[in-house]
Amino acid sequence: MWTYYPDLLAKPVPRYTSYPTAAEFGDLDTDHYRQALRHAEGDVSLYIHIPFCEKICFYCGCNTAAAGRRQRLESYLAALHREIVHVASLLPQSARVRRIAFGGGSPNAINPDDFQRLVDALFFNFAAPDPAISIELDPRTMTREWAAVIERVGIQRASLGVQTFAPHCQEAIGRVQSEDCIVQTVDWLREAGVASLNFDLMYGLPGQSMHDLEDSLQRTRVLGADRVALFGYAHVPHIVPRQKVIDDSNLPDQRERFAMAEMGYSYFATHGYAPIGFDHFARPGGDPLARAAFEGKLRRNFQGFTDDPSDVLIGLGASAISSFPHLLSQNEKNSGRYRMIASQDHLAANRGIRRTADDRYRAAVIEQLLCQGRAQLGACLMREGREALQPFLDRGLASIDRQWLDILPEGLPYARTIAAIFDGYRSPSSRKFSSAV
Ligand SMILES: C[S@@+](CC[C@H](N)C(=O)[O-])C[C@H]1O[C@@H](n2cnc3c(N)ncnc32)[C@H](O)[C@@H]1O
Ligand code: SF4
Repeated sequence: MWTYYPDLLAKPVPRYTSYPTAAEFGDLDTDHYRQALRHAEGDVSLYIHIPFCEKICFYCGCNTAAAGRRQRLESYLAALHREIVHVASLLPQSARVRRIAFGGGSPNAINPDDFQRLVDALFFNFAAPDPAISIELDPRTMTREWAAVIERVGIQRASLGVQTFAPHCQEAIGRVQSEDCIVQTVDWLREAGVASLNFDLMYGLPGQSMHDLEDSLQRTRVLGADRVALFGYAHVPHIVPRQKVIDDSNLPDQRERFAMAEMGYSYFATHGYAPIGFDHFARPGGDPLARAAFEGKLRRNFQGFTDDPSDVLIGLGASAISSFPHLLSQNEKNSGRYRMIASQDHLAANRGIRRTADDRYRAAVIEQLLCQGRAQLGACLMREGREALQPFLDRGLASIDRQWLDILPEGLPYARTIAAIFDGYRSPSSRKFSSAV
């Protein structure tokens, strides 16, 4: 049973899908990115961003736009092909692509033949012996042809944007999709051989009741999701203008959000799923994410919690973020400008931050706290964090034993807030982030 302490959740905190977070990125000399690619020895992972969706949802914080004109899509894909060739040519001989993730937007906003060509280009240009391939899919635009290409390519992992099954919430967030459409998508993907199927769900939606949420959790389980990501809706219209359409008078308040997060946690924990970090759940047994959590090998990257052990992630496409031990970089966000840059055979990374030794140290502490629930602190961080940690220690949410800081089970909803204590860039009143629950 979690206890709600509003004072501990008063400040918005980052999701820490990287540290430093993207809020710290500044202009980047592309040469740093080129050098990082040249030194990316060994196992690397690729992320390919498709910034298009058939229809844009009001709440969406992702970098995406309506698929619209065919010509815009084609020129984006042409630029992406150029970037693939360019980036692959810079990698050292020893680099091996072990994972390929397609995300967006909605990769299935492009047509299946274009997708097949993209996959062929990746295999042709990168050394990729038997990589694990995953894809994010919008069920509203799933087709039999897409299922066929997923089977042909051998995609094992897929993630569906489900959000909520409640029709009145779907209306309020501009994301109407029938249960039939989700059931059909699940059937197609299972027949295509997808072994690990994730559902993205959201709580804290306009007009969403506890009952609505519980009903969505139940339907998710019954449909056999292997994994679930249960996100708290981040309502930040000052950063994401498309959210202004959402009636915020109808949003659950923070106490209700807290109760929803708790209900989600206990629902999955008592219905055959292992909690992974603070917002993911996975069926134990075969699922690699659950195995990684169990073995203490869980990691955090731009896609959330992951079992990907690689220290190098190369992002391709507009706004895609790359991560190297000494550098975080981001491609040009605007897809029109990205098309221009990549089609002229320039590297598209123009924002980012070079990671100092202090950044890397803090990054490891933050990642361990979020993934393993504990971290070993050096004397410096212990001293620095002591005062801010006290309210968590006093309320039994965390404990300290010599150099070890542990987040206790009751402290889980406060994990991001505790991790933020070790963020060297945090200003006390940042508006850039969302609530920790
Ligand atoms: C790239 S989309 C998933 C695939 C596909 N585009 C779809 O929606 O079906 C990424 C996920 O981010 C989550 N998301 C988007 N905007 C959000 C927000 N403002 N707050 C919380 N989660 C959000 C949604 O759960 C969404 O499924
Ligand atoms: S939630 Fe998914 S489908 Fe909706 S706009 Fe965002 S990326 Fe596109």
